[in-house]
Amino acid sequence: MKIIVVGTGYVGLVTGACLSDVGVEVVCVDVDQQKIENLNRGILPIYEPGLEEIVHRNAQKGRLTFTTSIKENIAETDAIFIAVGTPEGEDGSADLKYVIAVADEIGTYLEDYAVIITKSTVPVGSSLKVKEAIADSMKRNGKSIPFDVASNPEFLKEGAAISDFMSPDRIVVGVNSERAGKVIEQIYKPFLLNGYRMIFMDIPSAEMTKYAANAMLATRISFMNDIANLCEILGADINQVRNGIGSDPRIGNKFLYAGIGYGGACFPKDVKALMKTGADNGHPLRMLEVVEEVNNRQKLVLFHKLKNLMKGDLKDKKIAIWGLSFKPQTDDMREAPSILIINELIKEGAKVNAYDPVAIKEVHRYITVPVNYTDDEYTALEGADALLLLTEWREFRLPDWGKVKELMTNPLILDGRNIYNEKELESLGFEYHCIGVGK
Ligand code: UGA
Repeated sequence: MKIIVVGTGYVGLVTGACLSDVGVEVVCVDVDQQKIENLNRGILPIYEPGLEEIVHRNAQKGRLTFTTSIKENIAETDAIFIAVGTPEGEDGSADLKYVIAVADEIGTYLEDYAVIITKSTVPVGSSLKVKEAIADSMKRNGKSIPFDVASNPEFLKEGAAISDFMSPDRIVVGVNSERAGKVIEQIYKPFLLNGYRMIFMDIPSAEMTKYAANAMLATRISFMNDIANLCEILGADINQVRNGIGSDPRIGNKFLYAGIGYGGACFPKDVKALMKTGADNGHPLRMLEVVEEVNNRQKLVLFHKLKNLMKGDLKDKKIAIWGLSFKPQTDDMREAPSILIINELIKEGAKVNAYDPVAIKEVHRYITVPVNYTDDEYTALEGADALLLLTEWREFRLPDWGKVKELMTNPLILDGRNIYNEKELESLGFEYHCIGVGK
C-alpha cells in the first residue's frame, strides 16, 4: 500500500511514522521546506517519546519519506490523509483554510482513484467541503477522477501517542462508500490483530465523535475541579471522593483527577469550536460554556492560594516552579496553566525561578515576562519562599526532601497536581497545600 500524509505536525507525523512501521509506504508532505529538510536529516519538530526511533528506522528502510510536493508523489496512492492544522479562528471556530488548500491541490493532481481521509479535527460538515473543493478543482482542471472522502478522527494523547496509535481502543471511520471502507480497513488491518475495534459510521457522526469525546473529557475535568473546590470548603478530600465515585463502572476511574485545569492544543480549542458550532446552528451548548468558565478559573486557583498564604503581598517573594508544559512527557506549552500563573506572579512583583525537563526550549514563545530558568529542579529552589508544582513530571515525584528544605527559605509547597502526601510532608516540616483537600 502507498499513502500520503499531508501535514507533519503532531498527528500527521505520528500517523505517517506508525503506518510506515507496519510496512505501508508512506510519503509525508508539508509546505514548510525547513521542516522537511530537518526531517530528512532526522531532526523532528516535536518531542514525543519513541517517535524519533520509529522515524529513523523507517526512513532508513526507505518506507518513510519527507517532501514538499503532493504532485510528484500522488501516482499510485491508495489514500491521502489530511492532517494539517485547523487553528482557532477569531470567532472560536476551526479555521479550515489549510485543509481546503490541500483538497484543492489534490483535485489538481489526482491521477487515479484514492480515498481522501480527513484526520485533522474539523467541524461537522467539513468532509463535505473537502469533497466539494476537490471536485471544483478537478472541474477547473478539466478532469474527472473517481475519489471518496472519509473522516478518521484521531484520539492520540500527547506523550503516549505511539502506544495510542499502535494499540488503539478504537478506530473511528466515517465513510459513505464500500470501496473507501475497504481501503481504510486494509490500512488499519495490522493494528486490529489484538481485537481492537474499528467502528464504521456515517461521516458527520465520525466528525462529531471527535468533538464529543474531547468535550466529554473536558467536562469531567471541570466537574471534578468544581467539586474539588467545594471539598476544600467543606473539609472533604477530592482524592478520596475520586476513589469513591470512580469505582462505579458507570463512571469509571479515568480522567477524574482534579488539578489546575486542562490545557494543550486540543481540549480548549475543541470545546470552543463545538460551542461555536452549537451557537451557529441555533443550539447553544450551555454546559460547555460552564466547562470553559470553570477551567479558566481553575488555572489560577494555585496562584490565589499562594497570594492568600502570603497575605496578599507577593512583592519580591522568590517563587520556585516545577514543570511548565501543559502535562508531562511533552514540551507542548499551548494553553499551559503555567503561562497564566507566571504572568500573575510577575505582575504582583514576585521573582520566579522555573524548571522543566523538556519545555524550556519552547517557553520563550509563550512566556514573555522575565523568568529565571534553571538547569535542574534543585537550583530553582534556592532561597525560595514557596514551591509551586505545576506539571507532574515523573522526576518530581520523589525528590530529596532534605535537600529541598535546606534550599528553601520558607518550606511552603503548593501542589497543583496532588502528587505528594500531605502527612509525610508535614512530618518533614513543610507546609503543604494541594487541590481539593480541606484542612
Ligand atoms: C486529548 C485527548 O485525551 C486525546 O484523546 C485526543 O486525541 C487529543 O486531546 C486530541 O484531540 O488531539 P491531550 O491534549 O494530549 O489529549 O492530553 P490529555 O492527556 O487528554 O490531557 C489534557 C489536559 O487535561 C491536560 O492539561 C491534563 O493535565 C488535564 N487532565 C487530564 C486533568 O486535569 N485531569 C485528568 O484527570 C486528566
